Amino acid sequence: MSERAAISIFFFMLVLVLSRAAILNPVVDEQKRCDFPAIINLGDSNSDTGGYAAGFYPPTSPYGDTYFHMPARRFSDGRLVIDFIAEAFGLPHINAYLDSVGTNFSHGINFATAASTIRLPNRIIPGGGFSPFYLDLQFLQFQQFKSRSQMIRERGGLSASSMPKVEHFSKALYTFDIGQNDLGEGFFENMTIQQVNASIPDMINKFSANVKNVYSSGARYFWVHNTGPIGCLPYVLSAFSSAEKDHVGCSKAHNEVAQYFNLKLKEAIVQLRNELPSAAFTYVDIYAVKYSLFAEPQKHGFELPLVACCGYGGRYNYSAEVLCGGTIRVNGTEIFVGSCDRPSVRVVWDGIHYTEAANKFIFNRISTGSFSDPHVPLKQACQRTSN
Ligand SMILES: *[C@@H]1O[C@H](CO)[C@@H](O)[C@H](O)[C@H]1NC(C)=O
Ligand SMILES: *[C@@H]1O[C@H](CO)[C@@H](O)[C@H](O)[C@H]1NC(C)=O
Ligand SMILES: *[C@@H]1O[C@H](CO)[C@@H](O)[C@H](O)[C@H]1NC(C)=O
Ligand SMILES: *[C@@H]1O[C@H](CO)[C@@H](O)[C@H](O)[C@H]1NC(C)=O
Ligand SMILES: *[C@@H]1O[C@H](CO)[C@@H](O)[C@H](O)[C@H]1NC(C)=O
Repeated sequence: MSERAAISIFFFMLVLVLSRAAILNPVVDEQKRCDFPAIINLGDSNSDTGGYAAGFYPPTSPYGDTYFHMPARRFSDGRLVIDFIAEAFGLPHINAYLDSVGTNFSHGINFATAASTIRLPNRIIPGGGFSPFYLDLQFLQFQQFKSRSQMIRERGGLSASSMPKVEHFSKALYTFDIGQNDLGEGFFENMTIQQVNASIPDMINKFSANVKNVYSSGARYFWVHNTGPIGCLPYVLSAFSSAEKDHVGCSKAHNEVAQYFNLKLKEAIVQLRNELPSAAFTYVDIYAVKYSLFAEPQKHGFELPLVACCGYGGRYNYSAEVLCGGTIRVNGTEIFVGSCDRPSVRVVWDGIHYTEAANKFIFNRISTGSFSDPHVPLKQACQRTSN
């Protein structure tokens, strides 16, 4: 073989190796960190930093005890995953759009409210359990905020400083965490498991439609949480006590529905990536991280994962009759539903929501990128990758 032939074969092989590497690993520039100037969130109680509290009933003590040392309008004893995300970028915690007192939206805004769904719920607060601010309305609020905030900025003065700069809307990280209550509404309002499961494609279509609307309003960087293992939460376990359990003690069928939701969500994100090539989408497998807390609590420093820290009664320390922060009269004695002794080693706070300790664990896991598709760390979530 001539030297030239050998060299050209060498280069041919090199190109082959490099192109294979490019196919197997999305091209991510390790050096390029994203400086998101703002975070804009849509979702439910998993990421609500005050919307439900402003609109309806604020959570009372012992909510907030661990970190804020007072109720902090969040459904946890402390911070939520969205708070840790804001902190990771050196940004202040994001305020709720609905909150009319003391808010500053210069570095982000939160449209999430607890009990929000993707689809219009049947029965809304106070006549029913769900928030009227379902995803379509959260988008409309976002659109309104986008135009009105710029009007306020143009006027100048003090209130201008609490509004985001116009360029923040295209540079912000848009985060989504919604869907758990669409499943919950189905389960609790007498739909069969199969009926809830069959309505998932419609939930996902409506989710995608809203993502496209947000994109059309200028958003480019999307960070989407899938839904958690709802079948491991005390509010589901105590309501469906005869449900078949997996080896961990979670309800099999309820979790299978959550997994089907996640499968369809992941497919939808692939589709959105194809349709909107100038946007960056990160799909985050929150389910896997949360499930690991139920499956291997000791390994991660947790205990009693299926038992609510702040609740009342039964195997799961949860009763829908009296929730965390409430009081119940038992045999003539008032009992206050307070916190367990060590929320720092507990997974579930009030039977529906996670403790700050769990949220911190979840954030630490997902921020590395190892639970994301593509495997892009949070700080590089502005990088586009092809499917
Ligand atoms: C809002 O926050 C920004 C950034 O922290 C700050 O510069 C601004 O003064 C604040 N606005 C008000 C009205 O407090
Ligand atoms: C579901 O069924 C239960 C028990 O049959 C009933 O009490 C409840 O009102 C029903 N809920 C709805 C939304 O139909
Ligand atoms: C949900 O529907 C999908 C698609 O029809 C099916 O593969 C899956 O087994 C269903 N899951 C449950 C729990 O019914
Ligand atoms: C209430 O009193 C009855 C009768 O003394 C007793 O059997 C029951 O266990 C008591 N319940 C609780 C929760 O203490
Ligand atoms: C159950 O909730 C109560 C508050 O009502 C709390 O004091 C107790 O420690 C909790 N139990 C467990 C096992 O966490």
